[in-house]
Amino acid sequence: MKFFVDSAEIDEIRELAETGLVDGVTTNPSLIAKSGRDFTETIKEICSFVDGPVSAEVTSTDVDGMVEEGRKLADIAENVTIKVPLTWDGLKACRAITQGGTMVNVTLCFNANQALLAAKAGATFISPFIGRLDDIGLDGMDVIQEIRAIYDNYPDTLETEILVASIRSPNHVKLSALAGADVATVPPKVLRDLTKHPLTDKGLDAFLKDWKSTGQTIL
Ligand code: G3P
Repeated sequence: MKFFVDSAEIDEIRELAETGLVDGVTTNPSLIAKSGRDFTETIKEICSFVDGPVSAEVTSTDVDGMVEEGRKLADIAENVTIKVPLTWDGLKACRAITQGGTMVNVTLCFNANQALLAAKAGATFISPFIGRLDDIGLDGMDVIQEIRAIYDNYPDTLETEILVASIRSPNHVKLSALAGADVATVPPKVLRDLTKHPLTDKGLDAFLKDWKSTGQTIL
């Protein structure tokens, strides 16, 4: 499973990218607003040190506006992936943009039928928002499992990658991998928390304490 960083905070993305474990980045208008920075400059800077797909979301809601914005955003860097919402205009824009050779991430997906339409529209990625489904008492992972099963029924025609979004916990990351998702886009704090376990910390402290008692050094 690929790991994308779900953020527009340059410093956080850069720190995580330096681990070599980051395969891409997703942004959205809310994350850009939170960063307080210029949209185009932020995407350009992220693309300067992340080679994988970097999602930049259009803000028009009509197909012509989405396509025009998509073309402008795609000019920033070749790894820019255009995010469009799961609406009929978004699906039409998805077809036009992908036919032009640019990756598209169809976002704000909340059920399997939406994901089926996005795949038929040629989406590179589909972004089901599992955290927001959980927020209303549904099980976001059920949707991931349904999408995976549907896409796997048509391997020759549906090539869209499942990009699990709205991830809120390490458990979401594990469940996404168990469900066979292609990508998890993970907030920086959740990504950092993936390494944490109290027994790891306790075990390392014990190893270092015992090593110190030997009086030896390796170098
Ligand atoms: O990539 C989509 C993600 O940023 C949405 O997360 O927590 O606002 O549902 P959230």
